[in-house]
Amino acid sequence: MSHDTSQQSAPWTPEERESISAFMRRARIHESKLVPWGSNYTFAVVLVDPLEQFENTLAIYKPRAGEAPLWDFPDGTLYQREYAAYLVSQALGWEFIPITVIRDGPHGIGTVQAYIEPDHEEHYFKFRGDYLDELRKVALFDLITNNADRKAGHTFLGADDRRVWGIDHGLTFNVQPKLRTVIWEFCGERIDDALLMKLLEVSCDAELAARLRPLLDPLEIRAFQARAERLVEIGVFPELNPRRNVPYGW
Ligand SMILES: Nc1ncnc2c1ncn2[C@@H]1O[C@H](COP(=O)(O)OP(=O)(O)OP(=O)(O)O)[C@@H](O)[C@H]1O
Ligand SMILES: [Mg+2]
Repeated sequence: MSHDTSQQSAPWTPEERESISAFMRRARIHESKLVPWGSNYTFAVVLVDPLEQFENTLAIYKPRAGEAPLWDFPDGTLYQREYAAYLVSQALGWEFIPITVIRDGPHGIGTVQAYIEPDHEEHYFKFRGDYLDELRKVALFDLITNNADRKAGHTFLGADDRRVWGIDHGLTFNVQPKLRTVIWEFCGERIDDALLMKLLEVSCDAELAARLRPLLDPLEIRAFQARAERLVEIGVFPELNPRRNVPYGW
């Protein structure tokens, strides 16, 4: 069956997003359980609303203290990159990243992200043909954020909403080229004008830049803007290199 993905509407209104984010910041964190397969310490948690406006909700808590050191990213910055990536997706209006906040938790500061139950019957390589419009946006997002880890398993369909969701954006915004991705189907394709317009807007969005400033190095913000500008100039999805641009483990 084919889906008209160009019609995929936003998962929340801006007001809903704000009130969910506020809930995620104020919630008490209960029942923290380690997700055993992440390379960093990742916890599945239950958020309990002290104001009792929201029902108990599952979320993913990735504390800064649980980040494994990497040679090519400054220590203790992955949670900031994760949140910066979320802010970029919001600024683009391409809302494929679950609502994310930075807050304190049982293991200190980190990100808390809404949990999305994946449709386990589906797999990126199976559903991608039906969601090309959404995946073009994810591919462009990865190009401008320089995402070093777009794995198939982290690009999935929600079990309830059958939307495309993307998670795990800690390895982003490096100034060195690091794109690693499983999304190869658009190489050489012309980028649609409406998408180019979004890239142009985001490359000179002063409000976004101000929100990224506490999270990233100034050079990383400039490099992010420059990657978006460059894509607007060339107007096509760039060719990728089969040795450099594939993730470790899919
Ligand atoms: N928002 C989310 N919704 C549903 N599941 C999630 C979410 N975020 C993370 N997970 C689950 O937690 C696991 C680990 O999270 P994540 O991939 O972000 O951390 P990581 O340390 O970078 O792991 P990896 O080594 O797999 O890259 C994911 O493979 C996924 O199963
Ligand atoms: Mg990861």
